Amino acid sequence: MNVDKGYVDAPVDDDMDLKKEIIRLKKEKGAVIMAHYYQNGDIQDVADYIGDSLALARIAEEIEAPVIVMCGVHFMGETAKILCPDKKVLIPDLNAGCSLADSCPADRFAEFIKEHPGHTVISYVNTTAKVKALTDVVVTSGNSREIVESFPVDTKIIFGPDRNLGNYINSRTGRNMVLWDGACHVHEQFSLEKILELKKEHPEAKILVHPECKKPLQLIADKIGSTAVLLKYACESDCKEFIVVTEAGILHEMRRLCPDKTFIPAPPEDSTCACNDCSFMKLNTLEKLYNCLKYGQPEVTVDASLMEKARKPIERMLELSKNIKK
Ligand code: 13P
Ligand code: SF4
Repeated sequence: MNVDKGYVDAPVDDDMDLKKEIIRLKKEKGAVIMAHYYQNGDIQDVADYIGDSLALARIAEEIEAPVIVMCGVHFMGETAKILCPDKKVLIPDLNAGCSLADSCPADRFAEFIKEHPGHTVISYVNTTAKVKALTDVVVTSGNSREIVESFPVDTKIIFGPDRNLGNYINSRTGRNMVLWDGACHVHEQFSLEKILELKKEHPEAKILVHPECKKPLQLIADKIGSTAVLLKYACESDCKEFIVVTEAGILHEMRRLCPDKTFIPAPPEDSTCACNDCSFMKLNTLEKLYNCLKYGQPEVTVDASLMEKARKPIERMLELSKNIKK
């Protein structure tokens, strides 16, 4: 089957009940479907596991099925493959990249490390396997603060690639990590003015902010955290209204878990675009997922020696975050 386009380009019958067929196929193929909270709601509905980046890495490590279909972006598929080298890891569309991972090319990051000798290298999971291979320990937004704090206060640290998350951790821990100047195109574009206007219309609403957002947005937040942390906060809060300042896919699970509460997606700067949707995440569709299961393609592959090097900092992260309940 031809996957030149990065996905299986085969026709799908319009009359087919896609969700039903996907559920049938995944059983037939012994596959487990994992989905990030930013995926389209209909993909989340057919997934065996949904979660944030930390949960998806933890689950991948434990899974017994021979095939994992990662409905997320490429670095999530790579992480699963690195943790489960003997399994087949599929992704509905290999073009599902990440602007944040792209903002940190491995050759330039290697030079940056050379310019800062004696530094421990901490990298966000939103990086390529090549960048992870240059890293001492990987973190996610769900465990970054705790992992940074596990190092003695005088440890010199390089943190990459997200400058907003890096600044947030510096401000919360009093550390002075050297930051790589990268960012996510979705989280960088939220408009402070528009969110403040929205807050005027909904004065009781709590503002939930992902740490990949810029500092002014973090300053008006009632809660800052990974997607899983924001979801938990919304479920446990007595408040009935929330303005959600992260990728809009998370609203699907928020509304499913808390049907009596109102979740308002934060507006993007440019109201003519759907910029609070991650265009990479949304490349995965039910049709591509169906074909991916049917034809067992496209597969995520990582060079064996690169995989060895990139596994160590991911395993170190999982070890260091064993006691973090998120
Ligand atoms: P988390 O689910 O770890 O908060 O991830 C944010 C993200 O940008 C994933 O691409
Ligand atoms: Fe990458 Fe941003 Fe999309 Fe997350 S939301 S996958 S950080 S581009």
